[in-house]
Amino acid sequence: MKNGLKITVIGAGSSYTPELIEGLIKRAEELPIAQLWLVDIEEGKEKVNIIAGLARRMIEKAGLAIQVEVTLDRRLALKDADFICSQFRAGCLEARIRDERISLKYGMIGQETNGLGGFANACRTIPITLEICKEIEALCPDAWLLNFTNPSGMVTEAVLKHTKVKAVGLCNVPVIMQKGIAELLACDEQEIIMQVAGINHFIWARQILHNGKNKLDYIVEQILSGNDPLVPSNIPAFAWPAELLKNMGMIPCAYLRYYYMSQDILEQELGEANGEGTRGEVVKAMEKRLFAIYSDPTVNTKPKELEKRGGQYYSEAACELMSSIYNDKRTIMHVNTRNNGTIAGLADDCVVEVSAIITKSGPLPLNVAPFPSDTLRLLQLMKEFETLTVEAAISGDLNKARRALILNPLVNTGSVLEAALLETVRENIDFMPQFAHLLH
Ligand code: G6P
Repeated sequence: MKNGLKITVIGAGSSYTPELIEGLIKRAEELPIAQLWLVDIEEGKEKVNIIAGLARRMIEKAGLAIQVEVTLDRRLALKDADFICSQFRAGCLEARIRDERISLKYGMIGQETNGLGGFANACRTIPITLEICKEIEALCPDAWLLNFTNPSGMVTEAVLKHTKVKAVGLCNVPVIMQKGIAELLACDEQEIIMQVAGINHFIWARQILHNGKNKLDYIVEQILSGNDPLVPSNIPAFAWPAELLKNMGMIPCAYLRYYYMSQDILEQELGEANGEGTRGEVVKAMEKRLFAIYSDPTVNTKPKELEKRGGQYYSEAACELMSSIYNDKRTIMHVNTRNNGTIAGLADDCVVEVSAIITKSGPLPLNVAPFPSDTLRLLQLMKEFETLTVEAAISGDLNKARRALILNPLVNTGSVLEAALLETVRENIDFMPQFAHLLH
């Protein structure tokens, strides 16, 4: 009998990891962790050792006896793991910046999980994730995989459709929405039940229950008055078109600005790319500053500066999910999981992002009232884009890739798409060998 849980973090060299450590420390009573294994690749060796140093100082300060191991040997780290947090970025920030700049060069929004960038990120990331899952099936078949690796919805769909791994996809956007709603209602988050539904980075809040009432209309009024704390720091907080939001009967997540205000976002991104830099370039500079702080041997807490990243609070989702599964807490959380009829009009085996009761057997999604037909059509279009992208990422079928991209409203089509696709594959060939035939 092991004397506690083994937690393995893949992509542990990420600047977000201190937040995960903070979340695990906070839950020491409910999560008896014996070992924390921090895994990265050769390129991330320096960063993951800095993270390990800070993790050990944070754990020591908390007076906990958690053994922290650092390794580049993923198989060793996965052996007998109970929970695995996947948070890697295939190609690192350099690949993200390439995605952003290639899209902008061809007049399209350049973003890590949207449009051509989201497609490229998925095609780099899914093959690596499936390799990791083969190792999980062999070395820790009963472990739960908590996926934060972007694009989280498509990566989770690839895992649930093509492996036997018990996986749940996570995102911090619903966490930020819930915190923003609690701020607007001036109450604790625990007093609210928020229901979201859609797909990752493409969700709407459907209900906001507080003190026996649905406060959704009140929250819409607050947002329309210019007070919108539901936005991650990486998304421009443009005001929603008032009439649209007022009559929608649900609240779009911040990422839906890429679809409801595409031109405004594109113009902002073009300005940034010619000025302070793309989001990826800004983040790269932020990471430099963060790791300078993390390397300071006197630092033993998560630095405030980390809250400027768009992905903040993701660890709350990860740690609460681990605890709710391990302790069968049945917390209501917003996760990426198999649809199984939760959203009518989407395939049973596709992955959706919905509110669910988290049990020791995994997520139990809450039923979702039918979407308005126009929103459902948008969801179906984007889910079809995602499903075709997952298939193209695995098979290297370029026609499936073209069919996926043509569906995506953020992608320009025709000769510009051919040129952008060719450049994307050429610039990413080390991570997209499945598309090498496009270059010959
Ligand atoms: C959002 C998303 C994450 C994404 C992050 C980017 O909150 O939920 O999926 O990775 O922001 O933040 P960054 O600071 O890297 O731009």
